Amino acid sequence: MSIPLVRLGVIGVGTLSLRGVLPHMTQADIVDRVRVTALCDPVIERAKDAAAKFGIPAAYPTLDAMLADDDIDAVTIVSPIGLHFDHCRKALEAGKHVHVNKTMTTTVAEADHLIALAAAKNLRLVASPGEILRPQVTAARKLLRQGAIGTLSWAECGAAFGNYHETEPERTAGSTAIDPTWYFRLPGGGPMYDVTSYALHQLTAILGPAKRVTAMSGIRVPARYWQGREVKTEADDNTLLLLDFGNAVFAMVFGTAGGRTNPQFAATTFHGTAGVLDGILLNGTSIEFDKREETLGGPVSDWEAQMRTLPHVTGPHRAIPESHIFEDMMQFVRWIREGVPTLATAEHARHVIEIIETGFASAKEGRAIDLATTFDLPVD
Ligand SMILES: NC(=O)c1ccc[n+]([C@@H]2O[C@H](COP(=O)([O-])OP(=O)(O)OC[C@H]3O[C@@H](n4cnc5c(N)ncnc54)[C@H](O)[C@@H]3O)[C@@H](O)[C@H]2O)c1
Repeated sequence: MSIPLVRLGVIGVGTLSLRGVLPHMTQADIVDRVRVTALCDPVIERAKDAAAKFGIPAAYPTLDAMLADDDIDAVTIVSPIGLHFDHCRKALEAGKHVHVNKTMTTTVAEADHLIALAAAKNLRLVASPGEILRPQVTAARKLLRQGAIGTLSWAECGAAFGNYHETEPERTAGSTAIDPTWYFRLPGGGPMYDVTSYALHQLTAILGPAKRVTAMSGIRVPARYWQGREVKTEADDNTLLLLDFGNAVFAMVFGTAGGRTNPQFAATTFHGTAGVLDGILLNGTSIEFDKREETLGGPVSDWEAQMRTLPHVTGPHRAIPESHIFEDMMQFVRWIREGVPTLATAEHARHVIEIIETGFASAKEGRAIDLATTFDLPVD
């Protein structure tokens, strides 16, 4: 059943919520479609401060208390990745539609459970990152199919941690600083679930599901430091995967402590017999894609500028960080209100989760492992 106005609860009032989710979702241009009616975070002072700042009626210290609020139709999950499964499950069981930030869960079994639960309760389940929504990604998929680089031979993509989560401005502000240490712990920590998930979503949005994975993985930085405190690294921070897409098309994927092969964040480089497609650069020249003119004027590595091609990233949203997540949430809202499903499906997210989970298993067992999940690519 469609509803005219989606009343949204926000689970977790940390860095992404304060920087992106709340500034975007409280803009005047969308109040006819969605309103944030509640927040929850165990750091209740932060939730209350954010509620006051963004004009949100209710702030709760627990998810259970928020889910008992009748003024919520849907939630967005912005909590640590290791808590996503529990938070998604509880929200679905309470009858709420769910948008979840990357990465949806850490295991396929958990993803299966959520997909079945959402279907059984006729609720919408949407998972970020919606790389598949980007016109740049659609254009790359079409160009490869048309043979723009000859016969595709192999691909490479990935992303690195660096010191990003130790130095984000929200985490260095004295007594109100937001604790990043979950990014280094299990379950859910490490660059694979945090940043390589973007690269894997993009790669598979272009090539479709992978068939087999093998990997090596370990920890390169055994301790991190936050507010003078040493935090032991539990989650692998240095992982290299090899993916088999069938017909001898292979990809190398990294989720590492440092380093990158491409200035365009999480972009894939496709090597062919007659050229190279490197993110949005075909043999060094930008490809054509919808709304490309909106992205011009800066380097191709300007991630936020590249997001101006997304349909909801207009007006004030172009000046607010993390606009790709705003697009994912507005696709979710549109699905709830108008019955138009988003391309950023939970099945796609499950496939990426399987690659990561199975990659870690492969590294441990020292063998290549077949992948079982699939998802549908859009018909171009
Ligand atoms: N930081 C980024 O740049 C960024 C960008 C894109 C997506 N994300 C995604 O956003 C999500 C959150 O990341 P973040 O960087 O904002 O993390 P964060 O550590 O800054 O914030 C997480 C928040 O969740 C709260 N929390 C912990 N347990 C909770 C519980 N049981 N119930 C409700 N809230 C709880 C914490 O108190 C904290 O305020 C993750 O899925 C991450 O992958 C983060």
